[in-house]
Amino acid sequence: MINKEMKQFPINYTQTVEKNAIGWGGHQTVADECKTANIKKALIVTTGLKGTGIVDEINQILTTNGIATEIYNKVTSNPKDYEVMEAYEVFEAGECDGVVSIGGGSSHDCGKGVRAVAANGGRYICDMAVFIDPPWMEEIKKFKPITIPQVAVNTTAGTGAESSPGFVITNTKARTKQLLLVPGAAPTAALIDPLLVRLMPQNIAAWTGFDALAHAFESFICRIQAAHTLSLQLGVMKTVAENLREFTYNRMNHTACENMCWAESMAGVGLTLGAGAGIVHGLGVAFGAITGCHHGLANAVMTIPGERYNQPACPDRFAEMARAMGADTRGLTKMQAADKWFDEIERLLADLNIKTGHLNEQFGLQQKDVKHIVTVYSNDFAREGNPRDFNFDECVQLLDSML
Ligand SMILES: [Fe+2]
Repeated sequence: MINKEMKQFPINYTQTVEKNAIGWGGHQTVADECKTANIKKALIVTTGLKGTGIVDEINQILTTNGIATEIYNKVTSNPKDYEVMEAYEVFEAGECDGVVSIGGGSSHDCGKGVRAVAANGGRYICDMAVFIDPPWMEEIKKFKPITIPQVAVNTTAGTGAESSPGFVITNTKARTKQLLLVPGAAPTAALIDPLLVRLMPQNIAAWTGFDALAHAFESFICRIQAAHTLSLQLGVMKTVAENLREFTYNRMNHTACENMCWAESMAGVGLTLGAGAGIVHGLGVAFGAITGCHHGLANAVMTIPGERYNQPACPDRFAEMARAMGADTRGLTKMQAADKWFDEIERLLADLNIKTGHLNEQFGLQQKDVKHIVTVYSNDFAREGNPRDFNFDECVQLLDSML
């Protein structure tokens, strides 16, 4: 059939963004936000954040302000389907009426999952995953919207999950991470507090900060995008280029810490307002599900090969991103200017001590899993907006070259 549309994505949709509170000491308003959202008994969903004292402190603020709590603290990186279902059991048994997620993307996404399952009568979470085929915009009409509130207390500067409406859960049977877009999943309020964010370990600071950058550059070159997104993401790239190194190696650098909080939130909001990810997240997420590699690190190792693959499709956009990251592109051709972006990324990866390539040696990725990863990506939302046309064999070659 001939596609009669003049444009591939003729209508751009912008989504609303819920409340973001960004600033020093913001976590202390957690009880106020719960009261505003009418939460009387909260399920705290968290990885535990051992050694930081953050969960105990939030729990104390809630209980001393009359909000009862239950705690589920077994969330792991790349949160699993069974963790969501276990947390849901605690939510139901405790007769909770809201969620307080404490942590980074894993905790917030698990919290969204609990609310999605509760809103849909205990249904297995990954039964509500969405894909390109069957068409996700039709599928999401079948899910009951979430009305249970969630207050997200952020402790990382990276994922933007504290305010985004989508979430990603590992389907352990299918050996992959799956996207969920159950209506109403965005947290009711997000508290992004540099006081908590600066307690991250050094490697997590680097990896999550790179995730924020990946949201910015992938949505900047995405085929699906709203104009709101573009200007926000240029700001993110500039902010990350100027602050992530200092933040990684000294989280007590208050300026760098605060700026990274803004960058990660802007990147997440930019995605929410109307854009998509691409091959870096698409392959990176599937790779992370197989190997257990941290989400931000997975994106970091996919960036150079994935975007070199995309570069011929949109060199002007890469040149613009190079300038946003501080490169001087005067007098260069568009391809030379685009190359400057890769120079900036390579230097950043080296400064963050992130080693690329050697995915077998570094993470245990095996050749037999390459086709599985590409198959997952072939029906993943991230593929839809990637600037270069999808080609299965080329993606297999790309991953093979990284083994
Ligand atoms: Fe991400």
